[in-house]
Amino acid sequence: MPLLEIKNLVTAFHTPAGRVPAVDGVSLSINRGTTLGLVGESGCGKSVTALSILRLVSAPGVIESGEILLENGGSTQNLVTLGERELCRVRGGRIGMIFQEPMTSLNPVFTLGDQIAEAVHLHEKVSRAEARLRSLEMLKLVRMADPEQRLHEYPHQLSGGMRQRVMIAMALVCRPDLVIADEPTTALDVTIQAQILDLLSAVRKRLSTAILLITHDLGVVAETCDEVAVMYAGKIVERAPTAELFSRPLHPYTIGLIAARPTPGASRSVPLRTIPGMVPLPNNFPSGCRFHPRCAYAQFPRCQTEPAELREVTPGHFVRCHFAGELDVPQNH
Ligand SMILES: Nc1ncnc2c1ncn2[C@@H]1O[C@H](COP(=O)(O)OP(=O)(O)OP(=O)(O)O)[C@@H](O)[C@H]1O
Ligand SMILES: [Mg+2]
Repeated sequence: MPLLEIKNLVTAFHTPAGRVPAVDGVSLSINRGTTLGLVGESGCGKSVTALSILRLVSAPGVIESGEILLENGGSTQNLVTLGERELCRVRGGRIGMIFQEPMTSLNPVFTLGDQIAEAVHLHEKVSRAEARLRSLEMLKLVRMADPEQRLHEYPHQLSGGMRQRVMIAMALVCRPDLVIADEPTTALDVTIQAQILDLLSAVRKRLSTAILLITHDLGVVAETCDEVAVMYAGKIVERAPTAELFSRPLHPYTIGLIAARPTPGASRSVPLRTIPGMVPLPNNFPSGCRFHPRCAYAQFPRCQTEPAELREVTPGHFVRCHFAGELDVPQNH
């Protein structure tokens, strides 16, 4: 049984200009202790997917349909319909969160020690001394120098990389089964990014936490993820184990992303925006296959009129393209 299984999730914003289906039928699953990378260009719906898992999408956004099943001692809980009280136990308890900009998630008026301890108190009945000890343990785990000293410091006294370490410590202090990391390194400079990613990998191995890693950086995915899901215009267009996806990408969009990938040795943070054409906006998705206006392999009229379904082309490799497996594309061995 997967730890988390998302089935046909639809999350839309109801704006004065009309319905905006940012996430439009997404299905994903994450097994215990594994890392799933969710990639795609800006605006494709990655963050809305992550926020939907925790039911943190704010108005006018609504989860319209679908299921988000979290494994729970042999059975599952559907997070879409779960009561608010139980949901609070899941948030920060069974599922931890790390966001892009740590400064907006840390409270400037409390010490780091108090904030990490607060995360423990929210979910577990422990003494103050025990919560402090756990906070200290976590700061050591995320390799903060002078952890004892740090407990008494405030967020503004830390560098960006150190703040992100504190966020990781907070996300992990209740030993969650899953951590959602939404662009956890985008705001950091390149060398610090590498350190934070290495740290996440090390911590994951140590605690056997599953990670949903959201990024638009394929280099990051190649180095850290077991599986990859590629998102385009509110839908998953390809899903496969990482090595398979990079050696045999089957969706023209993924092929384009990989071709546009910075060469080894280049900065890890170069964004992938070099596929010709614009990312469609959710209030105006193209008909048929949503990628067809940018697709070098599109065949007309089929690609323009008939939506493609996600299908399993080879075992464990899912692709949303009418011609997946039949295209004559260069392979990367
Ligand atoms: N409050 C809102 N009202 C209307 N539309 C919204 C709102 N929030 C997000 N959207 C739309 O949802 C779509 C998906 O946004 P999302 O933040 O999930 O993208 P993303 O893939 O995380 O992009 P990025 O890589 O830039 O973080 C966007 O096209 C955006 O226009
Ligand atoms: Mg985002």
